[in-house]
Amino acid sequence: MKKLRLGVNIDHVATVRNARGGAFPDPLRAAKLAEAAGADGITAHLREDRRHISDIDIDGLMQALTVPLNFEMAATEEMQRIALRHKPHAVCIVPEKREERTTEGGLEVAREENRLAHFIAPLREAGCRVSIFIAADRRQIEAAHRIGAEVIELHTGAYCDAFHEDRPEDRDRELAALRDMAAFAEDLGLEVHAGHGLSYETVGPVAAFPQVVELNIGHFLIGEAIFRGLEDAIAEMRRLMDAARS
Ligand code: PXP
Repeated sequence: MKKLRLGVNIDHVATVRNARGGAFPDPLRAAKLAEAAGADGITAHLREDRRHISDIDIDGLMQALTVPLNFEMAATEEMQRIALRHKPHAVCIVPEKREERTTEGGLEVAREENRLAHFIAPLREAGCRVSIFIAADRRQIEAAHRIGAEVIELHTGAYCDAFHEDRPEDRDRELAALRDMAAFAEDLGLEVHAGHGLSYETVGPVAAFPQVVELNIGHFLIGEAIFRGLEDAIAEMRRLMDAARS
């Protein structure tokens, strides 16, 4: 089976920092600690309103990381300029609304195919691996493939919500959709990632999908780090991922 990578999203270290302003906790320090704890990559989302990660954080991550940076961004001209300046290993294109608390759904690729195809072309030419964050929806996956994305990241939020809200029928339906669409995407030649809302309790079934090669996990790990420390929190996630994979 393909190796399963863990990308640690450090956005919410910056959320805590920004709650007070000032310099701590430092997301860069968290990223280096995550690296040391076995993260295969670091993910950071520079939002239009800069509510957590800042431009200076991205500068620091680009300079200091030895593992790849997965730069999450909305499909705007400003973000494209920033990505082209830094040329991170990967960019993940996400939908973004100012009023949302977190990335609520997948990107609407099918309706915006033309614009997105033009949007990602220079990013690909600059050498970034382009990933599209989408729902487990056949139409969106086909569109992501047509616009030239190399990677899709499946949104696991609906599955995780159903799990934690004790809605077993919804949970099973969402999980089945993720499983089927991971296989469908791989058949099209896309690399398959997954993420959003994953916790120790929900990670196993997603990690077990053989087509999924990367999970991006943030909020739960940063919260868990309060109780057991970041390195330990990450190590436990890694252990659960490996156990599910075997
Ligand atoms: N993947 C993508 C594309 C995301 O936008 C996010 C949230 O920023 C995550 C993964 C991580 O989600 P969470 O913080 O809920 O683990």
